[in-house]
Amino acid sequence: MASQTIQKVALAGASGLLGTPMLHALLNAGFDVTVLTRHSSTATFPSTVSNVVRVDYENLNELRQALKGQDALISTLTTFSISTQEKLIDAAIAAGVKRFLPSEFGSDCSIKEVREMPMYKDKSEIDTYLRSRCEEQGVEMTWTAVYCSCFLDWGIDNNFYLNLKDKTCTLYDGGDFPTATSPTDWVGEAVVGVLKHADETRNREVKVSGIDISQRELLSIAQEVTGKEGWSATESTSQAAYEGAMEVFEKNRSNVWGWVMGMLVKGVFGEGCTRDFVGGKNDNGVLGLRQITREEVRGYFERAVRVGKSSKTF
Ligand SMILES: NC(=O)c1ccc[n+]([C@@H]2O[C@H](COP(=O)([O-])OP(=O)(O)OC[C@H]3O[C@@H](n4cnc5c(N)ncnc54)[C@H](OP(=O)(O)O)[C@@H]3O)[C@@H](O)[C@H]2O)c1
Repeated sequence: MASQTIQKVALAGASGLLGTPMLHALLNAGFDVTVLTRHSSTATFPSTVSNVVRVDYENLNELRQALKGQDALISTLTTFSISTQEKLIDAAIAAGVKRFLPSEFGSDCSIKEVREMPMYKDKSEIDTYLRSRCEEQGVEMTWTAVYCSCFLDWGIDNNFYLNLKDKTCTLYDGGDFPTATSPTDWVGEAVVGVLKHADETRNREVKVSGIDISQRELLSIAQEVTGKEGWSATESTSQAAYEGAMEVFEKNRSNVWGWVMGMLVKGVFGEGCTRDFVGGKNDNGVLGLRQITREEVRGYFERAVRVGKSSKTF
């Protein structure tokens, strides 16, 4: 197969939590970026974006037109419209796009146990669809699925690792083992690494870790930032969190935030899940990525305290 060089990149969902830092990383790296945004969107984009195209994600023709001439398409579409990507995949193939990165960017869905969790159902279906379409005869599009575990900044803002405001923490499975976590701006750099190493990342999962760090170490950093006073920690297991989440899911699946965090706990901290791509068992080296430092992690906590984001709860 011919070597792939990527210069023209389309980004769908560029105004979102991940899309915003992703867009900056792509622009900083010198890619020629086209943004896809919904007709209804009120998002605005920097003037350095060469092209902003309004699309209807249900309209195949419109999507195909928007994607003509693009080397790669990155989707950072919202968790709540993952299935939308089916048409996007079809349009990208029809437009001759060489590489598609689906909206994954979380737990390692290549692991059966993770993949089968209800919260990853839509992502798994899209992943299966993307792989099978790329395998069809005559289709030249390739794919890369990026798994980065929980976003560090999102995890802090949404009380995933601990609760900065209430000064509480539930340590899962002892809390002493390192697990992967990746800040959103760092994930943008990781995707730049994927595009710059297009041949090495063709048709495969890429696992990256911003830093391998234990929950207890995150707690210790949080306590350095806020002062130790007033903190309380309890212990539980990722399995118990998962079972609790499944119970809520079975009773009332429309209460998404009642079950999603418990599943994420298992996906991130559970043995055999995403925590397994630490200790160098990741693709950071392939992409030329450095891990962030403990000091940088501290910076994310300081920022959260400054802007008061950790008061957000679901
Ligand atoms: N690892 C983690 O900890 C973690 C945390 C959060 C999210 N994620 C994952 O990261 C990816 C991106 O999530 P995100 O939170 O960054 O997304 P988001 O901010 O919720 O949304 C991203 C963009 O999607 C577009 N969008 C919104 N509603 C849509 C709809 N109904 N149909 C089509 N497009 C729509 C919007 O762009 P326009 O307005 O420009 O159209 C929006 O800015 C997802 O796969 C998500 O599961 C991972």
